[in-house]
Amino acid sequence: MSALHTDTADLKNLIDRLETGRFLTREEWTRLIRGRTPDLEEYLFEKARAIRIRHYGHGVFIRGLIEFTNYCANDCYYCGIRRSNPHAERYRLTKEQILACCGHGYELGFRTFVLQGGEDGWFTDERMTDIVSSIRTGWPDCAITLSIGERSYKSYQRLYEAGANRYLLRHETYDAVHYAKLHPPSLSSSSRQQCLWNLKEIGYQVGTGFMVGSPYQTPENLADDMMFLKELNPQMVGIGPFIPHHDTPFADKEAGTAELTIFMLGLIRLLLPKVLLPATTALGTISPDGREKGILAGANVVMPNLSPPQVREKYLLYDNKLCTGDEAAESLRDLEARMRKIGYHIEVSRGDSLNVSLAQTESKNRNEIH
Ligand code: 5AD
Repeated sequence: MSALHTDTADLKNLIDRLETGRFLTREEWTRLIRGRTPDLEEYLFEKARAIRIRHYGHGVFIRGLIEFTNYCANDCYYCGIRRSNPHAERYRLTKEQILACCGHGYELGFRTFVLQGGEDGWFTDERMTDIVSSIRTGWPDCAITLSIGERSYKSYQRLYEAGANRYLLRHETYDAVHYAKLHPPSLSSSSRQQCLWNLKEIGYQVGTGFMVGSPYQTPENLADDMMFLKELNPQMVGIGPFIPHHDTPFADKEAGTAELTIFMLGLIRLLLPKVLLPATTALGTISPDGREKGILAGANVVMPNLSPPQVREKYLLYDNKLCTGDEAAESLRDLEARMRKIGYHIEVSRGDSLNVSLAQTESKNRNEIH
């Protein structure tokens, strides 16, 4: 037997063990990630798809993303809206604008609103809880997801009590040394992770995740990320390729690849079979059929943009970020067509209760109008 053959057999065996036992050691994760081949990828994706279909059928959940502020107190080396980028054109939506986005999104069929923003001190607990409770009152059947970075335990608790249900906070990278290469000294992997534990304890459905192919990342770092996911056991995991932004210290760094991102998606589906796994905007940006490939590797969520069109181009975390076309919430029908083409369909629901298809919602809306 050739060496290559034994390697493939060994790695397939690791995938089998991941599927049945949902556990690998750090050394095994590293070996699997480093040794991947196209053949192995197909083997993984087939399993990941089968698990995804067993739990979720061919449905794809949609979440309406409202990017409500691009002011940020942080200075992450990779991010286009970092504090010290003087070229970022800053904006902040008013409460009325945010509520209008929700109203528009509801009409389109969204039942989850994701409020995402930089760490913007203007949005104090008072202002944020006011916004959250207004959404909660206005759309009682919708899930409210926040993605507004690191805050105190008390602050997370107040927002939860105001009606927020879910919180997205990527851990970015587990390893403290690697974390320090991506962030200024004021930020640390331990405080990031503590926030995630706090959110969990309070009762949020938690989403975490990491960038794939971020500068200085090694297969060992990704292995640690997988071990952390296993430990935290989040409800959602968002991963996407690192993409350089021209006005950041990482302008000249190499981008991550769709190939490795999709491989990691497949591994996450095996590790956490029921997790909500978005095919992210970054994946769609790096590769024109990235999101379809993500779905076919086990992803089951997409997050179209619900922000007002005039601010979309300003929320630029990385270069060439998709914000029109199928990425826009208005183009739900185009997105649906793309999903149908690969045998999947958009699901209109909160993702944690009764599921309704897009066609059903549209006919229901028509009936209400007439
Ligand atoms: N490339 C890819 N993803 C990025 N993010 C921020 N900057 C970039 C970039 N240059 C991701 C981070 C953050 C999420 C909102 O966007 O992981 O958590």
